[in-house]
Amino acid sequence: MVFDSRGNPTLRATILTPDGIGWADAPSGASTGKHEAIELRDGGQPYHGKGVAKAIENVRLISDALRGMDCSDQKKIDTAIIGLDGTPNKARLGANATTAVSLAVARAAAACSGKELFDWLCPGASRLPIPMMNIINGGKHAGSGLAIQEFMIVPAGAKSFSEAMQMGVEIFHTLKGIIEDKYGKAATSVGDEGGFAPKIKRTRDALDIIMKAIEKCGYAREVKMSLDCAASSFFIKGKYKIDGKSLSKSKMLEYYIALLGEYPLFSIEDPFDEEDFESFAALNKERKCKVIGDDLTVTNIHRIEAAINKGAIDTLLLKVNQVGTLTEAMDAATLCKNNKCGVVVSHRSGETCDPFIADLAVALECGMIKAGAPCRGERLAKYNRLLEIESLLGDKATYGLPQ
Ligand code: PGA
Ligand code: ZN
Repeated sequence: MVFDSRGNPTLRATILTPDGIGWADAPSGASTGKHEAIELRDGGQPYHGKGVAKAIENVRLISDALRGMDCSDQKKIDTAIIGLDGTPNKARLGANATTAVSLAVARAAAACSGKELFDWLCPGASRLPIPMMNIINGGKHAGSGLAIQEFMIVPAGAKSFSEAMQMGVEIFHTLKGIIEDKYGKAATSVGDEGGFAPKIKRTRDALDIIMKAIEKCGYAREVKMSLDCAASSFFIKGKYKIDGKSLSKSKMLEYYIALLGEYPLFSIEDPFDEEDFESFAALNKERKCKVIGDDLTVTNIHRIEAAINKGAIDTLLLKVNQVGTLTEAMDAATLCKNNKCGVVVSHRSGETCDPFIADLAVALECGMIKAGAPCRGERLAKYNRLLEIESLLGDKATYGLPQ
């Protein structure tokens, strides 16, 4: 057991082999999708119910099943884990147990091969992702009062990952000054993903101050904004409660179309309730920005297929612990690639300093990663690993969306 960035228990799995060791931590969401794989928690008094003793017991079961297997055969190992679990959603073993083990296997295999993790997962991979940095936190990640959960900056027009990071941190610090002036010094404390969480009532106020920070830094050409609405969290009794209003789904669609006319938006994630494929499709049909599925699709092949067939999304948010094994997550990415659907590799709001997703984003060659603000150690762990990968790749490194 180790603790995550919110001080809740989580698991670290370690795989020992004669030739190398691999470890990995399970992250944890707060605004989880209804259809995600099950995260096993003990319940009861200790840790307010969030203990992971049962999940640790299950790691012992998994360990017995895997002992002696070849860690370089990820698919075989993940298939064994899926078989041992025997449920469609990791309800028996817990996706926290299976995720930690599955990722640790990949690291052990990389260690045995003597390769960097990203290069082990995809030999020759060299594409660094665009960092989607969540610099104002709302929804379930902060007490800001904003309905929308994440307001991101997206340096898609940077020439390299390191240049994108420079733009991101300059904008982040400029925004801090703007918030201090407008809302007071106490308003610059941060939410779960490292973004500021000042008491702001309206979506447009948040977008306006971010835009101001982007312009002040001189990056209006290179940097766009993105939203993760996590709209299920403010969909109450059939209405979207946002900006002091109560909107029907058709009014909510009009609201997004208006925002798209006013601001340079790169993408909107989970704009509608997690069961409403049709409203997602109506927004996606506009072709005005990327429409990303997270709670809608939960890295689950069947839901992704449905979303693609209905035209609900053009991009998937990929989180390994939503499905519980690396193989299933990589299969989800392949399904997307085969259907010209983009992929964003994503952290969770509860994280550790395990940077696995940095290597995964490079290995999937998808060109986008969501890892929070350039603030809080568990967020920077991912960005710093990407800087390291960029420097390891040297002249071979490319940046941004695949051609
Ligand atoms: P979560 O939020 O990790 O709390 O689910 C992240 C997201 O919605 O993208
Ligand atoms: Zn989301």
